[in-house]
Formats: sequence, C-alpha cells, structure tokens
Amino acid sequence: MAESITITDNRTGQCLEIPIENGGVSAVAWQKLLPGIWFYDPGFVSTAAAESAITYLDGEAGILRYRGYPIEQLAEQSSYLEVAYLLLHGELPTKDQFEMWRQEITYHTFIHENVRKRFLEGFHYDAHPMGMLVSAVAALSTFYLDAKDIFDLEARNKQIIRLIAKMPTLAAATHRFSVGMPFVYPDNSLDFTSNFLSMMWKVAEPHFQADPFLSRALDILFILHADHEQNCSTTAMRVVGSSHADPYSACAAACAALYGPRHGGANEAVIRMLTSIGSMDEVDAFIAAVKAGETRLQGFGHRVYKTYDPRAKIIKRTADAVFEVTGKNPLLDIALKLEEVALSDDYFVSRHLYPNVDFYSGLIYQAMGFPLTMFPVLFAIARTSGWLAHWVELLDQDMKIARPRQLFIGSQERPYVPISER
Ligand code: ACO
Repeated sequence: MAESITITDNRTGQCLEIPIENGGVSAVAWQKLLPGIWFYDPGFVSTAAAESAITYLDGEAGILRYRGYPIEQLAEQSSYLEVAYLLLHGELPTKDQFEMWRQEITYHTFIHENVRKRFLEGFHYDAHPMGMLVSAVAALSTFYLDAKDIFDLEARNKQIIRLIAKMPTLAAATHRFSVGMPFVYPDNSLDFTSNFLSMMWKVAEPHFQADPFLSRALDILFILHADHEQNCSTTAMRVVGSSHADPYSACAAACAALYGPRHGGANEAVIRMLTSIGSMDEVDAFIAAVKAGETRLQGFGHRVYKTYDPRAKIIKRTADAVFEVTGKNPLLDIALKLEEVALSDDYFVSRHLYPNVDFYSGLIYQAMGFPLTMFPVLFAIARTSGWLAHWVELLDQDMKIARPRQLFIGSQERPYVPISER
C-alpha cells in the first residue's frame, strides 16, 4: 500500500497525492493545491514544526531515547555532563573528548562580578528565583559580545560551554540572594552537580562536600530533564533562535516558558496538592473530587505519554535512594496511596492517566532541602543542554524564521469615528 495521502479540493475537483515521510506529510506540498488555506492547530497539537535527530519519544509505548540511547541506560550509567555532550554532538564522547569537555565546562563556571553585584543584587529582596534567572540569562548576552557571531563555530561553542557552565552558578546565586546568604564561588575541584550543591548549601566550612548519594541522585534528575523534544520551552528556544538572536536571549525565552505552572511548575503543584490532602485518610475523598471534575490529580497525565512516563519509573527508584539519606519525605505515603488508588480506578485507566516525571521529582527536591521556588530553576539547569542542542540543530538546518499564520476572526473594514462622535 502506498505510504501517501490524497487530498481533493471539492471546489475545483483538483487532487494532490502527498507522500507520508517520517510519520508526517509536508504542509508545503498541501500549499500547492490550497494556497491561502491554513492548518488550524492551536497549541501545535498535530503539527510537527521541525525535523530533529535528538530525542525519540513514543508516548504509547513509554519510550524515551536521547540520540538512540534509552533513558534508562543513560540514567543508570552516564552522567549529566556526558549526556549534555551526547545531546549536542550526537555521539558519546571518547575519554579524551569527555576530559576536554569536563575541563572546559569546569573553567567557565564563574560569572562576571557585575552580573552578581550590580545585576542580581539589584532585585527586590523577595524576588522569585526563576524570575531572577530569566533576566540574568538574558543579561549575559550583554557581557559576551561574540554571542552574536552564531555562524562562527568557535564563538558558538564558546557560548554553549558558557551557558551550560554558568547556569548552576546563576541558579545557586538566585537562591542565596533570596535567603540572604552570601554568594558562594564555584569550586573547580568538584564535579558539575557537587559544585552546584556546594554553591547552594556551603556555609562556613572551608570545603563543602555534598553527600555522594544526593549528588548522584540530582545528577540522575538532571539527565532525565535534559531534553524532551519539542516541549513548550524548547519550542520557545527554537522560535527565538530562528530569528538568529544570540543564544543567551533565546535561552532566556526558553527559561520564561519554563517558568509557567503548566510546564516547569507542575512538581510544585504536586507538593502543594499532597500538603493540602494532608493524610492518607483523605486520599479517597480527594480522588472522588478529581473524578467529579472539581480538581486535577497533579503529576498525572501527559500530552504525549499515554502510559507510565519512563522517567517517573526511574525517579521513583531514585527517591528511595534519596530518602535513605534524608529520611522519608512525610508526603511520600500520601503519594504512594494516591498512585495505587488511581492506577486501579477506571476513571484514570480509561483516560490513560499515569504518573508523569513530576509526580515524584518534587518529593525528592523537597527532601534534599530545595525550596519550592527553586524547582523550575533546577529544571532550567538540566534543560539548558537540550535547548542548546535544538538551537544548534536548527542553525545547521538553516531553518526558516518561525512565522505561523492565523485565521482572522475580527471585524471587517470599518471607518474611523473621531472621539468627539463616539
Ligand atoms: N487529573 C484528572 N483528570 C485528568 C488529568 C489529571 N491530572 N489529566 C487529564 N485528565 C482528564 C481530563 O479531564 C480529560 O477528561 P475528559 O476526557 O473526561 O474531559 C482527559 O483526562 C484528557 O485530558 P486533557 O486535559 O485533554 O489532556 P492534555 O493532553 O491536554 O493535558 C496535561 C495534559 C496538561 C499534562 C494534563 O494531564 C494535566 O493537567 N496534568 C496535571 C498537571 C501535570 O502533571 N503537568 C505536568 C506535565 S509533565 C511536564 O510538563 C514536565
């Protein structure tokens, strides 16, 4: 059977056959038959805006792979820095390549003193860390004038390294400022994630050494959040990148998209939900309220996954390792009971609603001591490598500027009425 579709314009009887390639049909081909008739697809629910070789996702089967490697294997055997390299370069690094990559990232972790002293410290005392991060990332573009040279490969790579390296420094700085603690400089003797934890939590000790289990657990969470193909923030990165803006400005737009509660804020919503449920005895009543349409079970359901989110499975295992060190998060029992009740209830089963990545990640972050406002910031640290991989891919593909069409539903032409006559 031919892998194609045939469309007919019933106004003229004209037909056009369009091949189905890589699971999609070309809208440009459609345009040849129907110029001026646009696809109406709010939220891009059924539109592929890019060809990408970075992340493969099968929501029905619960499969997630970065550059062909299953997420389960990466989470178990790799590190966030290696995964960042893989996403950006398409291949796992050799030993020498990794060592050079690690060194370059490590030696770009410092931020310009003015970013911290003049810029970050200028925020109001109760500024949200994510709001500070969005602005600080955008401000970086003014510190690196070569950022505009996006087709100079050396300059482009420099910005990629700077962004991945400085993100944890900026993230920790926003936290320290919001709790009134002095800024902690990066410690180049530490690995990527342990250095971030040092900048977060160091007090008076000369050398902060994070608990290795917690550092590894956070590194796994970073791996799981590193990319998720054309999600809202990656789309923002691609749209701004398609105008050939510098990568800091594009990354700031991606951070802004992540700031929204529908995207980067879901794990915070889970914690708030579990706290408001309060005890295991209230779980049944809460589920009844969800089924009556009064509220949603946060951390359940996904636009793409119609089965258990593969990342949620890994996170659940990671949570056990974390709670061994921190002691159990008291909200865990409520979460486990909610999951058990939901997975055996026809309302959730028939709608294919399973735990997503955010159902357990917030419990881990909270047990590690991160305030709720830092949750999207942690997400941004991890997703930076994915955003940049997509940015590089679209520049290499010489993508057109993103410029969708609209279906106009406003007034037809009408004459201007002077204000004295209105
Ligand atoms: N609790 C209860 N019912 C739900 C839930 C939920 N969490 N999610 C979906 N449903 C129901 C809807 O009411 C709807 O039922 P109906 O057919 O009877 O009307 C059906 O399932 C389909 O739901 P939609 O909202 O159409 O699904 P959509 O794909 O648009 O939404 C979303 C996906 C936003 C993730 C949704 O499942 C949700 O709101 N989940 C809770 C928030 C959340 O956990 N977000 C994190 C996503 S992961 C991430 O961004 C990193």
